[in-house]
Order: sequence, then C-alpha cells, then structure tokens
Amino acid sequence: MGHPLDTDLTDARRQLLGARDLFAPSELFHENSKITASAAHFTMSAGALTVAARGFKRFQHALREPLPRADHDQLADIITARRSCRTFNGAPIALSDLSSLAYLAMGAQGEGRRCLPSAGGLYPLDLYVAVGAVDGLAPGLLHYDPLEHTLSRLTETDPLRAIRDAVFIPEALDGAAAVFLITAVFGRSKIKYGERAYRFALMEAGHAMQNLLLAATDRGMGSCPVGGFIDDRLHDLIGIDGVEEAALYACIVGHPA
Ligand SMILES: Cc1cc2nc3c(=O)[nH]c(=O)nc-3n(C[C@H](O)[C@H](O)[C@H](O)COP(=O)(O)O)c2cc1C
Repeated sequence: MGHPLDTDLTDARRQLLGARDLFAPSELFHENSKITASAAHFTMSAGALTVAARGFKRFQHALREPLPRADHDQLADIITARRSCRTFNGAPIALSDLSSLAYLAMGAQGEGRRCLPSAGGLYPLDLYVAVGAVDGLAPGLLHYDPLEHTLSRLTETDPLRAIRDAVFIPEALDGAAAVFLITAVFGRSKIKYGERAYRFALMEAGHAMQNLLLAATDRGMGSCPVGGFIDDRLHDLIGIDGVEEAALYACIVGHPA
C-alpha cells in the first residue's frame, strides 16, 4: 500500500491538471453565461434603464446615524476621479506606465506577497497584455509573469483588431493603446476550495481590475473595464480553451481623447 500522502498528491495533481467535472455547477454556469457571436445582444429601453439605475435600498423608518464628511486624501482623489473612458486619442502610452499597471494589478512583492489579495494565497488569475501602441514595445500579445516582473511575448501581430471583434464597444479600440486581459486557471483554486473557487476567482478579478483602473487614473490615463465580450474570440486570441483557463475581464487603456 502506498503512503497516504501519495494518494493526496495524485488527487491534487489530477484536480490541478484537468481531471475536471464538466457537470460541476460552476462549469455549467460558466458555459451558460458565455456570450456568443449569434446570441441576442443585451438591450434595455431607455426608460427601464433610468428606473433600474435608481435602484437602492433605504430603511425609511430606521434611526439615522450621521457620518462625518469622508476624508479627502490622495487615494480618495484617485477613487473619485475614476470614470470609464471609451474614446482614446491614439497616442502611445509609456512602457513605464504599462509596467506599473501590470505590477499594481497583480505583481509580486517578494516573500510570497502580491499586490492583490487571493483566497488561500492560491492566485488563480493570469494577466495578458494586448499591446497596440506602447513606446518601446512592439505590438502583440504578451503574458505578464508576476514573479519575474517580465512580459513573455506570445504573438507579434496587432491584437487590438481581434479584440475589436470581441467586444461591443469596438470604437473604443480605435485610439486605445493596450488592453489588459484577466483570465482564471480555476484549477489552482479549486484544488482547495472546490466549487467555491469559482466565486473566489470572480472576486479576485474584481480586485485586479480595480487596481488597474485606479493605477491608470493616477497616471492620467483613460481606462474602461469590459465584461461584455464574445468569450471564445478572446480565448482564441489568447490560445486558451475557455474551460481550464477562461477570460474573465478586460481593461482598455490609453490616453483619453
Ligand atoms: C463588471 C463590469 C463590466 C463592464 N462591462 C462593460 C462593457 O462591456 N462595456 C462598456 O462599455 N462598459 C462596461 N463597464 C463599465 C460600466 O458601464 C461603467 O462602470 C458604468 O456605466 C458606471 O460608469 P463609470 O465607470 O464611469 O463610473 C463594465 C463595468 C463593470 C463593473
């Protein structure tokens, strides 16, 4: 009989390397929430949109506790200045800015620490950069290595055209400089958390995105978070299967028009 640890390791490796349950609720949900090219677009009448956007909860009869004015420090200035930007002027961004954005989104600070929190420290997310106009960096798709703080070049063709065909705001790509693509390799977190890992991956993508948006705002750059995309077009661009590793969130950046 083998050592009990052998079994654990084999199971763990099997989970991590893809003995997956395609009928797991998270897999079914992910598949069913994909956007395809032929799917009906999300639409809402202007009237319904106005009403829906006013949704909030108020405890009308509860005793109110007044709050002091929110502090206004540098971080508050950045948070309140952030807005989604969808028109860019085509000017290239500096490589140092791209580098800072990648680092602040997901970078490693040494001693196992990173710039974003992660459930159990398992870091299921990966970051790719589709480079269009960045000073000193040829266009192409690159993958960010957070431990080395380097970019690995995957392609040398301009990827922004492919992203234009994947999103529902193609005009935004016209003058954009780059697009950050956040993916999840769910197995890294599922190995410990099972189905709960799916939630964690989505939460963590939100952390990475907010870091990106605030870092871009702080540097005077425009940015737009994009969750509306034809999933498989991004998967094809990156070269991932959309199951083991799937695209979760994209961030268009550039100089505002
Ligand atoms: C999860 C998520 C997905 C989004 N996806 C898109 C998108 O696909 N296209 C787009 O133009 N904006 C997208 N946005 C941006 C929202 O439209 C925007 O945040 C909202 O209108 C509020 O405006 P603000 O960001 O300027 O405060 C997304 C935002 C979030 C949080």
